Amino acid sequence: MIRSLVQQLLKNYQIYEFAVIWFEVRIFCMFVYLFKYYYIMKFNALILLFFIELFNINAQNLWRAPQEFKQLQNPLRDRISAIQKGQKIYKSLCASCHGDNGTGNPVMIKTLNPPPADLTTGLVQQQTDGEIFWKITEGRGLMASYKNMLSDEERWAVVSYIRKFEKKQTVVKQDNSTEKTNEVESFSFSQLINAKTTFIRQTKGFGFNIQHRFGAAKFDKNLIRNFLGLDLASNVRFSFEIPVSKRFMFEIGRTRYGKFYDLGTKYLLIKQTRNNRKPISVAFYENIALTTENAPQYSKHATFEDGRQFEYKFYHRLFYDTQLIVSRKFNDKLSGQIAVEFVWRNLTPYIKHPEEKAYVIAFPVSLRYKIGLTSAIDLEVMPNSHHKTMPISLAYEIASSGNHVFQITLTNSDRILTQNLFFNQTLHYPKDGFMLGFNLVRYF
Ligand code: HEC
Repeated sequence: MIRSLVQQLLKNYQIYEFAVIWFEVRIFCMFVYLFKYYYIMKFNALILLFFIELFNINAQNLWRAPQEFKQLQNPLRDRISAIQKGQKIYKSLCASCHGDNGTGNPVMIKTLNPPPADLTTGLVQQQTDGEIFWKITEGRGLMASYKNMLSDEERWAVVSYIRKFEKKQTVVKQDNSTEKTNEVESFSFSQLINAKTTFIRQTKGFGFNIQHRFGAAKFDKNLIRNFLGLDLASNVRFSFEIPVSKRFMFEIGRTRYGKFYDLGTKYLLIKQTRNNRKPISVAFYENIALTTENAPQYSKHATFEDGRQFEYKFYHRLFYDTQLIVSRKFNDKLSGQIAVEFVWRNLTPYIKHPEEKAYVIAFPVSLRYKIGLTSAIDLEVMPNSHHKTMPISLAYEIASSGNHVFQITLTNSDRILTQNLFFNQTLHYPKDGFMLGFNLVRYF
């Protein structure tokens, strides 16, 4: 009896399960640290977590809506205003694949596998509004999830419009539905501008990200000559993100400055629910980055602080970033998050900069405000314990579907990887100029 109770608890509260594992791993690391293999063990801990998650993988659902969604009533069914709104959304987001009249865009039918469903057939029209709503919400494969792009109301409006593809009229149903409890996603992508979000993609496949920063453009006579900085030296990070389960993902990245290779993992501890029983989402993020830049050049007599002679070891190349991220979607337009972040480097450039510390504690704050169906403004401010840096970023975001986002960024630092974002001085506006850039995310 007690056993089943505990099992029930663990099942419902994976957070405890995770916390226990993490705690054990940490204690283990602490012991190992004494033997100076901390960095290797920390890496192993990530791999361990990865395998734990691997056994947890949720099998891909059949393309069948869960029972509770089938019964959901469309609150906007047959409302003229909703149908018109649905038509507008359909034309701008869905028609490219499903065709203006719902039978499917002939080009897409030939190129996509499986092809976009014919929305006019009995196969679709015989489904309940709730089922279609769920499919638009969750997506599958090439059909993106519209959970984050469209509000509930907008998705119901599209369902109402899709119903009009059917010739015969159906009975008008009264609206007395109550919202089902389900999970809310605060952000649509796993990182905003530089900050990691609580988002983990819920479908199989992987994501490819490019984060690109151009050089600093000053407000001087070279502003136009340098084409607003777009001609200047730049930083770039390429990364792949791979969701392993609904709560766990990892990412692998390569950044130009520092020639860093990084391995990140994210674990979703709590996910916000619509009924506010869980008012926030919480995720744990951990990243290890390895610089492959040449060893720093110091004189032969250079020593560590404690007097030992300086010698460049492998573990000096490692930088760690640990974050606890808390996010909340306040309404259909506004989402926000705050994180507690701890960055550690194994080698501090003490000789050249005696004031530098090995660590930084930061409190990144991110906001996203939707200004249209597909566009949003993102803002990030990252107060931290370093004496010279205060990364601030602004972005205009266009998400043409749940699978794709493009951001034009304005930042005061050309660093991308958080491990060196805080260790390099940020620009002072407007004296030092500004930096343009872009982020591109594509899910496959
Ligand atoms: C990139 C092309 C693409 C876009 C854009 C797209 N879809 Fe789809 N849609 C698909 C594909 C492909 C499938 C079949 C997915 C499957 O069966 O795995 C599909 C399936 C569906 C289904 C499920 C039909 C069934 O089998 O029950 C519905 C409903 C649907 N789409 C509605 C929409 C709506 C509404 C939009 C716009 C908000 C939209 N789609 C945008 C490609 C697209």
